[in-house]
Amino acid sequence: MGSTRKERARNDSSRAEIAVVGGGVIGLAVANELLDRGYAVTLVDEAREGVASNAAAGMLAPFAEDDVGADALVPLMNASLEMYPGWVERIASADEVDLTSTGSLFVARDRDRLATLRHEARRRTEANADWLDRDALFELEPHLSPRALGGFRVARERAIDPRRLRAALARRFDALGGRRGDAGAGLVVRCCGAWTDPWVRPVRGQALLLSGAPLVQHVIRTPDVYLVPRRDGRLYVGATSDERGFDATASAGDTLELLREAFLVVPGIAELAIEAIVVGFRPATRDHLPVIGYVAPDTIVATGHYRNGVLLAPITARLVADLIDGDAVPALAPFDPARFKPNGGPA
Ligand code: GLY
Repeated sequence: MGSTRKERARNDSSRAEIAVVGGGVIGLAVANELLDRGYAVTLVDEAREGVASNAAAGMLAPFAEDDVGADALVPLMNASLEMYPGWVERIASADEVDLTSTGSLFVARDRDRLATLRHEARRRTEANADWLDRDALFELEPHLSPRALGGFRVARERAIDPRRLRAALARRFDALGGRRGDAGAGLVVRCCGAWTDPWVRPVRGQALLLSGAPLVQHVIRTPDVYLVPRRDGRLYVGATSDERGFDATASAGDTLELLREAFLVVPGIAELAIEAIVVGFRPATRDHLPVIGYVAPDTIVATGHYRNGVLLAPITARLVADLIDGDAVPALAPFDPARFKPNGGPA
C-alpha cells in the first residue's frame, strides 16, 4: 500500500525535524501535538520578561472575551473551549492545572450598569446567559458588594491557571522525548507571542494575584475588572490594557485602579494579601485576529492570539499540526498571514 500524505510529510527529510520557537502555552501546545503525531521536535525557548502565559488570567471564555467581535474568531474560540477537558486530560489532571468550570458571572454594581448588562444578556442569547436578580446573585456569591443589583451567568465558561498549564505542558514535552536547543535546518514554527516580529505588537496588561480566604466561586466580571478564583484560594484580579511597547514596569496607578474596581464589586478583597503584581504582553495583530500559517516554505507563524492565547491553545496546536501533516485546513483561512501582505507587511 502506498504511504498516505501524512506519512509522506513526516518522511520528507526537510520536515522530519521541526523546531518550535517559543515556550509559552501556544508554543508548548504545538510542540506537544507534534510529538504526539510522531515528529521530532526541538523547543527553542527564549525566556522573556512579560511572556503572556505567565501573566494571563486563563479565562476560557468565548463570550466574555469576545471583544474583537469577529465572526471568524468566535467559532474558533468555541471549538477550543469544547476541546479543553479532553485536551487537559492528555496533559495533567484538572486539579494540577486548576481547571475550573463554575462559569462567568457578569455583575452590575449600579443602575446604569444594570441597564447595559440587561441589554447585553438579551443581545447575546446564544451564550445561554441566565439572568439573575439580586437575590439569586447573592445566593451564588454572598461576598458580592451589597450594591450589586443583578447580572447573568454564562455557565459553560471555564478557567485554568496558565502558569500551571505551561509547567504541565513543559513536563510532558520533556517526558515524551522532546528536545531543547537551537533550531536546526528543518521547518520552524514561530510561536513567540508578542515577540513574533513583524506580525504583532505588544498590548500590555497588568494584573494582581491576591491571597487569603476564598471569596468567590465564579469568574466575576464587570466592564472594568475581572476576578478569577483559583482552587487554592488565590484570586487573580485583571487586567489593564495599554500600548507602551515592552515596558514591564508594574505601575502604582494600574494597581490602584484594579484594586478600586475589584473592591467595588467584592469589598472583602481589602482583607487579602497582594501576593504578586504581574505584567504581560498580549500579541496583537492589526485586525486583532490570530495569524497562523506558512510565511515561507520552511516557516510557519502561530501568534496574534491577543486576549485569548490560553483559550485558543488546543485548537491552534491541532490546526498547525494539520497544516504540517499536509492537510487542507479551511478553518485557518481567516487567519492566513497572506491577508497582510498586499499592504506591504503586517506591522
Ligand atoms: N484574556 C484576558 C485579558 O487579556 O485581559
